[in-house]
Amino acid sequence: MRDLDVILYGAAGFTGRQTVAYFAEHAPMGLRWAIAGRSRARLEVARAAAKLAPGAVEILVADSADQASVDAVVSRGRVVLSTAGPFSRHGTPVVDACVRFGTHYADITGETPWIRQMIDRYHERAAAAGTRIVMCCGFDTVPADIGTFLLARRAHAMGTGLAAARVYYQLRGGLNGGTIASALGTYETGGPSADPFLLAPESAPSPTQRASSRDVREPRYDADVGTWVGPFMMAVVNTRVVRRSAALFAERGTPYGRDFVYQEFQKYSPPLAQAKAIGGTMLLGLLDASFRTPTLRNVLAQLLPKPGSGPSAESMDRGWFRCDLVGVAEDGRRLRGTIHHRGDPGNRATVRFVCESALALAVEGESLPGGGGVLTPATALGEVLAIRLKAAGLEIAMEAGRGI
Ligand SMILES: NC(=O)c1ccc[n+]([C@@H]2O[C@H](COP(=O)([O-])OP(=O)(O)OC[C@H]3O[C@@H](n4cnc5c(N)ncnc54)[C@H](OP(=O)(O)O)[C@@H]3O)[C@@H](O)[C@H]2O)c1
Repeated sequence: MRDLDVILYGAAGFTGRQTVAYFAEHAPMGLRWAIAGRSRARLEVARAAAKLAPGAVEILVADSADQASVDAVVSRGRVVLSTAGPFSRHGTPVVDACVRFGTHYADITGETPWIRQMIDRYHERAAAAGTRIVMCCGFDTVPADIGTFLLARRAHAMGTGLAAARVYYQLRGGLNGGTIASALGTYETGGPSADPFLLAPESAPSPTQRASSRDVREPRYDADVGTWVGPFMMAVVNTRVVRRSAALFAERGTPYGRDFVYQEFQKYSPPLAQAKAIGGTMLLGLLDASFRTPTLRNVLAQLLPKPGSGPSAESMDRGWFRCDLVGVAEDGRRLRGTIHHRGDPGNRATVRFVCESALALAVEGESLPGGGGVLTPATALGEVLAIRLKAAGLEIAMEAGRGI
């Protein structure tokens, strides 16, 4: 019996509780939605915290360790929105059920080795059935993926292709215990992959793309943004996803551009931009080395926030992020854009992004691009998501730059 439009799975978690509040406020009239997770008691608390009456939204109980309970929940929905992470620990039974029951899926994972496993196991079956399994619908990787998609659309409207895109991040935000647990889990199984095309299909990359896609490791002055830049913390996720998007669009016959390449950076503003870039780069290197060392990883696991916890409401309100987007068209012209959001990137922005992604899957099926598969925000939701996010308060500005 498929009687629900959207099921919020993991709804009792730190991010999950915020998805319940978002749906309580923004779900369209008549949308049939429910909340799900492993503990009825904690789900009741999440429902009450969102000021929902007990009869307003049904509670469904499913532990990811019990596939039959997951099946019973997933088979009732047209769309599952999952915030139950670490996804490498709790995600596979949910994705498996979504593929078997033809239920569309959106999550906020950034665990690239697990995403690769899901692609290998499920992409072809989901594609054949037209089921959209959309990963990385949080702060990683919606701004990078949708921003690059919009640059490519703009280039195509100008009658040319997009040869390169670069995204420059600035942000203020906190860290959730669940995010730290997921990062620790990734490092326990070898750490983030060094392969820049980890998530790309077999058709990619070309030798030119591979030569231009090595991970950024050094600070440098960047004339396009007129200041110093360095490696960005989430690039190891975002770059892989954007390159998958580009390769899937190429497979669909609508490439961003010939030999399209993508990179992203942390942007450092004056004063002392160079010193900040050097310091930020060293700090990232130190963190990576610490997470790769088992004893230091164990110490960090004790000191850092635990699953279920996250920044205070005041701190989340003070957070923000801004992306400067720079595109280089095949004819040499520059394209520019910005994406700006007020509120903590890992919470306020992530919740808005994943909830609007799930709502797009639930109510905009006819307008969505492409078909099924293990997809990215851009390839599954494209312009539909950009329009929804703009309407929901994300500031997106695109302009054609110098020489136009
Ligand atoms: N992409 C982004 O920008 C972004 C931002 C934020 C978070 N995230 C990711 O989102 C995930 C959740 O983060 P969070 O801060 O919300 O973590 P959290 O508070 O620890 O929430 C995790 C959720 O998973 C549930 N869970 C644990 N074991 C389960 C099981 N056996 N069966 C079913 N559910 C189970 C927990 O249920 P209980 O409540 O019953 O314990 C809880 O609801 C993490 O993987 C994190 O990395 C991504």
